[in-house]
Amino acid sequence: MGSFKDFDAYARPLEDFRVKTLSGATVTLLSGFIILILLLSEFRDWMTVQIHPSIEVDRGRKEKLWININATFPHIPCYLLSIDVMDVAGEHQNDIDHSMLKTRLDPAGLPVDVTRGAIGEKHDSNDDEIAKAKDPNYCGPCYGGEPANPNGCCNTCEDVRNAYIAKGWSFDSPDTMEQCRREGWSQKIAEQQDEGCNIHGHIEVNKVPGNFHFAPGKSFQQNHMHVHDLHAYHAGSQFDFTHTIHQLSFGKEDVNRINPLDGVSKTAPESAHMYQYFLKVVSTNNVYRSGREVPSNIYSVTEHEKSTAAGFGAGLPGVFFNFDISPMLITYTEYKKPLSHFLTDVCAIVGGIFTVAGIINSFVYTAEKTLKRKMDLGKAN
Ligand SMILES: *[C@@H]1O[C@H](CO)[C@@H](O)[C@H](O)[C@H]1NC(C)=O
Repeated sequence: MGSFKDFDAYARPLEDFRVKTLSGATVTLLSGFIILILLLSEFRDWMTVQIHPSIEVDRGRKEKLWININATFPHIPCYLLSIDVMDVAGEHQNDIDHSMLKTRLDPAGLPVDVTRGAIGEKHDSNDDEIAKAKDPNYCGPCYGGEPANPNGCCNTCEDVRNAYIAKGWSFDSPDTMEQCRREGWSQKIAEQQDEGCNIHGHIEVNKVPGNFHFAPGKSFQQNHMHVHDLHAYHAGSQFDFTHTIHQLSFGKEDVNRINPLDGVSKTAPESAHMYQYFLKVVSTNNVYRSGREVPSNIYSVTEHEKSTAAGFGAGLPGVFFNFDISPMLITYTEYKKPLSHFLTDVCAIVGGIFTVAGIINSFVYTAEKTLKRKMDLGKAN
């Protein structure tokens, strides 16, 4: 037992040799205060989850890019607005309507009750024509267009319009077609002229550079050119592409990020204005502490706008998004300091400060003692 005691590294000096001084107490209190502050900041540091970014080359291949859009065009009616996607791989998606939802907005910006007269619905017209269309064997003419239906019928105005577009013709005289007269196509267009449109949903594109755009009129490919048919929409119509982008983000899952275009609003100074946004999309991977990985994308944007009033060749009025894909992948890893690190840091703080305080204290004590001795000597003399 006696020899085991030899291991005691914290041998206590005899109580008699310990001297308590005023300066010692000050240093102790001061160092205690510093320790408290440092421990608190260390604790806060330990509690917070840090995010460590790291960058590498994106090795993903053959992926699709998922784009979420929610935008409002207060002065473009829904029937006029189309969204098309084109990429350098040569893929076109014209007038996407399966994943994008359009909501008609009245001039005050409130949603229109859609149960009331959308284009393509029945409308009062010539009784004969209506009776004819009710016949189950009715087969409307396509006026030379390319019918989508294998039986060669165009039963609605929309069918005729699509048949014309398939053929690359412009649809410029709907009033001569019985289907369109029956549906009151021209009246509907006149009615909706002052409306706006909210469009929201998602599109999926190849992960290659490309563009998607909101532009007026149905679009189609003609001689390898992307053409928008603006006929049949009251001559001289104004295309006011004032818009608000509520949301434009890339990636399927929401990772709680502010996107640079969210909330951007533009007021067109004139009709026929063209807006272009150039986006650089960077892939990200978000690795959470639970081990869950969420792939997503971030982007930067520059913008450009110009007038297309100069006419043919000056461009198409609309809102264009050109995107480019960065070859880099940023991985954001969530990280929290382990408890062992926290404890180590606590020991380092407490031990370190006590040691430094001890050194200071002994200096002060020695200095005090020397001073006192000198003063005593002086008195004796
Ligand atoms: C689109 O954005 C508007 C304005 O922020 C919002 O009121 C609306 O709910 C959004 N639409 C969808 C489908 O999220």
